[in-house]
Amino acid sequence: MNPTTFQIKSFGCQMNVYDGERMAELLQAQGMSPAADREEADLVVLNTCHIREKAAGKAYSDVGRLRREDGSKPLVALAGCVAQAEGAEAKRRSPLIDIVVGPQAYHRLPEMIAAASRGARPVDTDMPATAKFDALPARRRAAPSAFLTVQEGCDKFCTYCVVPYTRGAEISRSWDAIVAEARQLADAGAREIVLLGQNVNAWSDGPRGLAQLIRTLAGVHGVDRIRYTTSHPTDMSDDLIAAHGEVPELMPYLHLPVQSGSNRILKAMNRSHTVETYLAVLEKMRAARPDVALSGDFIVGFPGETEADFEATLSLVDEVGYAAAYSFKYSPRPGTPAAVMEDQIPREIMDDRLQRLQARINEHQLAFNRSTVGMNSQILIERRGRREGQMIGRSPWLQSVHVETSAKPGDIVDVTLLSAGPNSMMGAERQKVAA
Ligand code: 5AD
Ligand code: SF4
Repeated sequence: MNPTTFQIKSFGCQMNVYDGERMAELLQAQGMSPAADREEADLVVLNTCHIREKAAGKAYSDVGRLRREDGSKPLVALAGCVAQAEGAEAKRRSPLIDIVVGPQAYHRLPEMIAAASRGARPVDTDMPATAKFDALPARRRAAPSAFLTVQEGCDKFCTYCVVPYTRGAEISRSWDAIVAEARQLADAGAREIVLLGQNVNAWSDGPRGLAQLIRTLAGVHGVDRIRYTTSHPTDMSDDLIAAHGEVPELMPYLHLPVQSGSNRILKAMNRSHTVETYLAVLEKMRAARPDVALSGDFIVGFPGETEADFEATLSLVDEVGYAAAYSFKYSPRPGTPAAVMEDQIPREIMDDRLQRLQARINEHQLAFNRSTVGMNSQILIERRGRREGQMIGRSPWLQSVHVETSAKPGDIVDVTLLSAGPNSMMGAERQKVAA
């Protein structure tokens, strides 16, 4: 029987969230509707992440939990990067899985669902050069801050990372397709567009690069804010940096992963930048946009990382003064060069380093948040807060700000930032000038 209701659960990065939204739109265009809860869904799509930890094992145990008390089960689709990595093996490992669909093939879900409803167990992990995007329906719904994938895949081959294998080679969507989707999102209520790509700043269409795209999107009616993530230090062009000083819609925030503060480790990671070249990029960025908030990603316990290497990472964190940062314990990914490197770091040492790094990052986050107290700023309201009359929105620096207001999601309100915590701010709406 063909399913009529579905549930999609996305894990991992923002691109998976985006893909989850597009899958939902695709299924709705087929006449299916979102299920009220998982127990009622005829189809469950697990949109998985493979970047760290025991991703595959976790996905299989999530699949196992889909069997219901009465012994029945929904139609189960394993999607995302675990599906890409496991392929047909997924069907052998779990008899509950009906469909295996990789991140570049999900536009084919409708036909795969039809086949699965007839008892087949289709697998599609092709990575066609032609974009799946053309086969997806137009955007009709959008959150105040909406994701828009402009680039997928990665050619950098950092030695710890599975992305080049699960998301494939770098491809850029066309200029026209992106501008059209941005217009659809703005028409559907988005005020902020977050351009996504594993290597978003490597986006290009012929001679045109991300900076030019951002300048054009800033002119799209209804688009008030633009962000982009994730960038690679080596692809931070002068043009893109200059755009931060020139395009008011481009928010003063840059997520630029560095991974380590030790050049020896960066080399072993095949990062193609050094601490010095990374800092030089940040210096240019601060010259172009002095109030830019900086964020980064770090890995602790990469094979061979000594205490001195780790301390160099702590020093870098102090030197940059991140407004936010994400840090992870190194996790060996099958098939990546680092997984078979000698001198893997024991778990206790990784735990200790992660704790120390996160404590240091938290200090800087709090210091950054405190440095904005007293400032007047604009908040894009995204959702209700926990207290009556309270809403939560984002500042230009991506801080989460709680404010008492009658404004609705999608409104941009003037606030004064009143107080700071490590992860959020309190703000007060500024009185409108009396009419
Ligand atoms: N182990 C730990 N962290 C990783 N990341 C990517 N691969 C691994 C891995 N094998 C982190 C990097 C990257 C972020 C998205 O995830 O910091 O920037
Ligand atoms: Fe992975 Fe490195 Fe590519 Fe980022 S740049 S997706 S860490 S290989």
